[in-house]
Amino acid sequence: MIRFEQVSKRYPDGTTAVDDLSFEVSEGELVTLVGPSGCGKTTTMMMVNRLIEPTSGRILVAGEDIAAVDPVRLRRRIGYVIQQVGLFPHRTILDNTATVPALIGWKRAKARARAAELLDLVGLDPKRYGPRYPDQLSGGQRQRVGVARALAADPPVLLMDEPFGAVDPVVREQLQEEFLRMQADVRKTVLLVTHDIEEAVRLGDRIAVYGQGRIEQFDTPGAVLGTPATPYVAEFVGADRGLKRLSVTEIEPEDLEQPPVARLDEAAGPAADRLRAEGARWAVVLDTRGDLHGWVGIEDLGAGGSVGDRARRMNAWVPVGAPLKQAFGVMLQHDAGWVAVLDGARFLGVLTPGKLHEALRRSVDADALGVSRGQVEFDSVADA
Ligand SMILES: Nc1ncnc2c1ncn2[C@@H]1O[C@H](COP(=O)(O)OP(=O)(O)OP(=O)(O)O)[C@@H](O)[C@H]1O
Ligand SMILES: [Mg+2]
Repeated sequence: MIRFEQVSKRYPDGTTAVDDLSFEVSEGELVTLVGPSGCGKTTTMMMVNRLIEPTSGRILVAGEDIAAVDPVRLRRRIGYVIQQVGLFPHRTILDNTATVPALIGWKRAKARARAAELLDLVGLDPKRYGPRYPDQLSGGQRQRVGVARALAADPPVLLMDEPFGAVDPVVREQLQEEFLRMQADVRKTVLLVTHDIEEAVRLGDRIAVYGQGRIEQFDTPGAVLGTPATPYVAEFVGADRGLKRLSVTEIEPEDLEQPPVARLDEAAGPAADRLRAEGARWAVVLDTRGDLHGWVGIEDLGAGGSVGDRARRMNAWVPVGAPLKQAFGVMLQHDAGWVAVLDGARFLGVLTPGKLHEALRRSVDADALGVSRGQVEFDSVADA
């Protein structure tokens, strides 16, 4: 959808902002550009909508060399969230959001209706916030308006220059989450600039790690964290990249252990005998549908009654597909040695610290080999 072919940008004073850049962003893909200040991220982005012209090389959008496309027409197809948001201070939030539709000649009522719809989409009540002015909004709200404005003309391509840069970490995380939810819906082709590796990893389908004017590595978050291509990338992603990897590695069914199980309606005495025979000291308790109810220790199981009378509720669970980091967090929060993994309400198995470590190791190897995690052979320390 966006293709850079040996693109360079040199300024008259001799600065090479971007040096021989080639990469491609697929349709519906979100690529993050990450790197230190001054490495050429904004320059890269502004060449896509021709706010900056390359010195050499060419850029294609949807197969078309953009040098031959009228810049105004080009920009209709490309939403742009600029660094520092850049709302017009003397226009209301609603009119700010309607800027592009108004520019391209939509009727005022239609442009405003669309703006209201988009404010709603980014979590701002248009009735409440539409009539306000930018200085009557918090930083996070202003950034939401910036995103709404960029989406207003429903462009297939979105350029976002540090869209969540100017807010505190908590609000930032919230905005990122909202944006990911929205992106899952609208599936734009997105180039997003950030200088924050955490944000790059969290949002990107793929990441371009910039050195001075050049891409040092262009790969999935898992691969960048697991197998940095150069010492520079390793340094940039940081010594805690293993920890960061937890947030991009998903729990898969094959990561799970199958613990002893008891049924809610099972008689307590026989259940205790059965579990003892299996050498178990506790069991996960499921209802008749196979949904998680809780757990029970076999000392708690007396001779009479049912397992359900003695079972305790279990709150340490995560959905399958959640990142390992979430499972780790839940383990710590509940001070538990394992967490249940559910598909909807259905119990799939448990994740233990050993299995978590194994899943992480497996995903590093899988990324290095370019295969899926299930294809990697792995002997855990516990097995050896
Ligand atoms: N008009 C200009 N003339 C000369 N050099 C320029 C000009 N505009 C930008 N540069 C230089 O080009 C390089 C890349 O700038 P760019 O704005 O792309 O960086 P960036 O990666 O977006 O940085 P930041 O994270 O600080 O926003 C910088 O060294 C900058 O000083
Ligand atoms: Mg910049």
